[in-house]
Amino acid sequence: MDLKILPSQQFINTYHPMSETAKISLQGKEIELPLIIGSEQEVGIDISDLRAKTGAITFDVGYKNSGATASAITYLDGELGILRHRGYSIEDLAENATFMEVAYLLINGELPNKAQYDVFDQNIRSHTLVNEDMKNIFEAWPTGSHPMGQLIAMISSLSSFYPESIGTVQNDNQKLLNVYRLLAKMPTICSMIYKKSLGHPFNYPQNKLDYVSNFLNMTFKHVTEDYEIDPVLVNALNKLLILHADHEQNCSTSTVRLVGSSHANLYASVGAGVAALWGPLHGGANQEVIEMLEIIKSDGGNVEKWVEKAKDKNDSFRLMGFGHRVYKNFDPRAKIIKKACDDVLNKLGVNDPTLEIAKKLEETALADPYFIERKLFPNVDFYSGIIYRAMGFPVEMFTVLFALGRLPGWIAQWNEMREQKQPIGRPRQIYTGEILRPYVDRTKR
Ligand code: CMC
Repeated sequence: MDLKILPSQQFINTYHPMSETAKISLQGKEIELPLIIGSEQEVGIDISDLRAKTGAITFDVGYKNSGATASAITYLDGELGILRHRGYSIEDLAENATFMEVAYLLINGELPNKAQYDVFDQNIRSHTLVNEDMKNIFEAWPTGSHPMGQLIAMISSLSSFYPESIGTVQNDNQKLLNVYRLLAKMPTICSMIYKKSLGHPFNYPQNKLDYVSNFLNMTFKHVTEDYEIDPVLVNALNKLLILHADHEQNCSTSTVRLVGSSHANLYASVGAGVAALWGPLHGGANQEVIEMLEIIKSDGGNVEKWVEKAKDKNDSFRLMGFGHRVYKNFDPRAKIIKKACDDVLNKLGVNDPTLEIAKKLEETALADPYFIERKLFPNVDFYSGIIYRAMGFPVEMFTVLFALGRLPGWIAQWNEMREQKQPIGRPRQIYTGEILRPYVDRTKR
């Protein structure tokens, strides 16, 4: 096999201890903590010895300031709106690469040459079929159940179809087989979920087709009709998948790494990542955005009213598709998607009034002091749903498409975590409950 898992040495080289240190003074005692610096000069304070030396822990709810790992996969500067994978800018990749090249890049560390690409592509094509028994699982789902609930279970179920993936000691070939299988079967599973929602028979994969075309064919081909794969859809989806391919230590990726740190298998770890992605504050936002735009449209399109609601702290409404934990500038992915949105809708001849509402909403929010002061900008989910809908996907499938795109990132991060031999992830806490008290008999309470 051609694919190589990066050696852990790569991890060591990505950050260097500095001679400078940070000093902490705690209850009359001063200790020095080493600094580490990343390849883009990001500085971190290494607190590995903090508890041993002081008895204290750090407290950072939501990990707003805490680095959980060093990683050589994705670089993100939220203040400057920069996103790069393995050194390549997201703009460059979205413009020029295929999704499969980006998947190879994330997992393997370098863009493939032609021979490497062909081997990778061929390996994935040869594993697209899922076990026929999977259909039995689909039969058990109530029609109309949410696609993301199904996706979590279906991905995890691959560990049952490939029990050898569960073993903690695996040689490189076994590890690679899991990677190929997961990448290859994901589009098949996603399309089966879509077909199930319609009550239609599944389409088998066609291995002569490339990754994106195969997915579109399995999804949109009606068994009784011919289906012509539209290159506009292929190009648009290729770009969208690239834009979602990795985003360093976000909620779902951190989940994949955390679950994998207990040496849970790849399928179970990624299944857990899909669960984290489903939440409306994370990948589930793309569905929420379209639903929000539809509500605003049916309410008369008064965007100012909805921007005011989003600012009102007594109102639970938030502007979905706006704001980001790390971007305090334009999300570079949102810029690319906004442009692609106009382009795709024009090419497909779709006139979607929610696009105009979205643009007006963006304009109004970006001029409002509330959003300016808090540095809230449109994120990747703001315009993506409009494209997905124009392509023919129902809203419930939007987050599934996010997951399809994010898969190479999850795999690359899981591999890196295991190669780094990271210890099991296990945060500490500050206990705020009752202190020791005696048990009192029930009749005397
Ligand atoms: N609408 C209105 N106010 C907002 C929004 C929003 N979308 N996002 C943040 N704020 C306010 C928030 O109320 C807070 O105000 P204050 O300082 O007065 O309390 C301030 O901005 C900071 O927000 P936060 O919630 O502390 O920021 P966070 O980093 O914890 O949360 C977020 C980030 C993405 C969860 C949040 O911005 C949000 O809920 N956005 C809407 C959901 C969304 O679009 N999620 C998709 C994110 S991009 C895809 C992905 O990678 O997951």
